[in-house]
Amino acid sequence: MATPTIEWIDGRVRLIDQTLLPNQFKQIYCEDVEAVWEAIKMLRVRGAPAIGVAAAFGTVLGIWNSTAGNYDTFYSELKKTTDYLATSRPTAVNLFWALDRMVKTAVSNNEHTISDLKQVLLTEALAIMTEDQEMCRSIGKHGAGLVNDGDTILTHCNAGGLATSDYGTALAVMFTAHEQGKQIQVYADETRPLLQGARLTTWELMNAGIDVTLICDSMAGQVMKEGRIQRVVVGADRIAANGDTANKIGTYMVAVLARQHGVPFYVAAPTSTLDMSLATGDEIPIEERGAEEITEGFGKRTAPEGVKVYSPAFDVTPADLITAIVTEKGVVLPPFRVNFRAIVEG
Ligand code: MRU
Repeated sequence: MATPTIEWIDGRVRLIDQTLLPNQFKQIYCEDVEAVWEAIKMLRVRGAPAIGVAAAFGTVLGIWNSTAGNYDTFYSELKKTTDYLATSRPTAVNLFWALDRMVKTAVSNNEHTISDLKQVLLTEALAIMTEDQEMCRSIGKHGAGLVNDGDTILTHCNAGGLATSDYGTALAVMFTAHEQGKQIQVYADETRPLLQGARLTTWELMNAGIDVTLICDSMAGQVMKEGRIQRVVVGADRIAANGDTANKIGTYMVAVLARQHGVPFYVAAPTSTLDMSLATGDEIPIEERGAEEITEGFGKRTAPEGVKVYSPAFDVTPADLITAIVTEKGVVLPPFRVNFRAIVEG
């Protein structure tokens, strides 16, 4: 990213407001935890890893002006802040992973003065961001090995630099393959209802000089049937211990189509997206979003007033439709339950 998706500047969080892209490039400042909560909720900052980084910085903002006189009071203020941020969005586990890491950092540094502890927490949030950048680069290297010169790749939603602190997960695979000199093309699903594919993925790929073609979500089957796609690569919001993967609504449909057409289906995600506490994807909480995002998305009413709407924001792709999961530690093949253990514990 020429401009960082998220950064900590002079005691504030600066974000690219992704709701305005691609028409307007605008950075916004969050000066308090409520502003970070709102930015996550409204998808100004979005994508599982970026949500985690934003939550870590939001935690710092929440405790920065604490006047607590002792550790116990400080800890309860910290917990209140992280519990609050945890209510912003339910599906991406990176949010909870980052909040948990912030709390554990405070606990293991409880001998520090409150003022030092604040600094320790800021250092931890910055580390979460830097590690995310490194993980993305590594995912790119591992994933590019799965891409052949001349391949056309289909992706869904946006798992790019905008969805992380830099470079992305699914798009990292494409950026790295492109940087290695492989001639690749990408088909980007527009990703109804909030159009992350149309607005963000095409924007990122075009900026990187990668040949990208936009299609409506409903065109993926036809495009595969015409033999245009050699690989599917998507990101993830939460991966259960058996490999079942939650990602943007519509991903499951793409995975079924890929299986039907014999196209390998890859998930690219950092290990911070693994949730080994969940045995299967049935346990992943799926966010439901407001009806207006479907009936009057982007300002134009496209359905009758009063129509009933159901809007799950994510779906779960069963592990048996996934060819491999690309993490920063390497490419994980099925059986995922066994092979995740090796990377998590190894
Ligand atoms: O609702 P969003 O835009 O936050 O959904 C994002 C996705 O589904 C991404 O594919 C996922 O978070 C992976 S981002 C590297």
